[in-house]
Amino acid sequence: MGVPIERLTAAPGVTDPEPFAGPDHPMRKLTRAVAFDGEWTPDRAAKVSALFDGMAAEWAARLHSSKLAPVIDALDRGGVARGGRWLELGSGTGAGTSVLAEQFEAVIALDLSRQMLLHAPGHLAPRVQGDASSLPFAAGTFRGVLILNMLLFPAEVTRVLAPDGVVVWVNSLGDQTPIHLPVEEVLEVFGPGWTARTADAGTGFWATLRRDVLR
Ligand SMILES: C[S@@+](CC[C@H](N)C(=O)[O-])C[C@H]1O[C@@H](n2cnc3c(N)ncnc32)[C@H](O)[C@@H]1O
Repeated sequence: MGVPIERLTAAPGVTDPEPFAGPDHPMRKLTRAVAFDGEWTPDRAAKVSALFDGMAAEWAARLHSSKLAPVIDALDRGGVARGGRWLELGSGTGAGTSVLAEQFEAVIALDLSRQMLLHAPGHLAPRVQGDASSLPFAAGTFRGVLILNMLLFPAEVTRVLAPDGVVVWVNSLGDQTPIHLPVEEVLEVFGPGWTARTADAGTGFWATLRRDVLR
């Protein structure tokens, strides 16, 4: 069995994020409830969808640049193989999708919020409106799943991931990201038999996770 968490040196140019969202942020509480206890209901889904529908135009108008560095570094140093199908969960207005689309030919962008998807550039990847708690894909479909500032639904991620696939978890504002889990907790959520590699990059961090037995 490998070392559970392999920590790489920080990428060049790392900076601390501005204080933004601490442990009491409502989205942080929801993140933990979903990841650890599976507390996701149709009512919650409707509220989260409406919340992001309402923020979509403003979200699209913001610069994406701070989100790109950790995604690019994860794909570069995270032990990510080239090729295969990729899925981005909670793809929003397309920050992460833009990086994936440059490096992989078959990318799908999925989000709960119709408005967030409508504000994402349509040429990057097919956009699917759906709920990451119940994905419309067959088991083992994807070689990679990108989760950038998005809630973690470990059972569905595990199901749609190929046996040798990789999960890329990114919090682009580190522990100031509203939807944040540290790498130790992401690994705990996936359970025994998984290992992680992680590094700080930009104003955030990334972790790549894979099933240990198949490395
Ligand atoms: C904080 S935003 C991040 C968007 C984008 N990844 C980024 O970093 O700019 C979270 C996104 O996850 C989506 N989302 C939340 N819950 C979801 C779910 N259960 N299934 C799919 N998408 C979801 C929201 O609609 C929103 O677009």
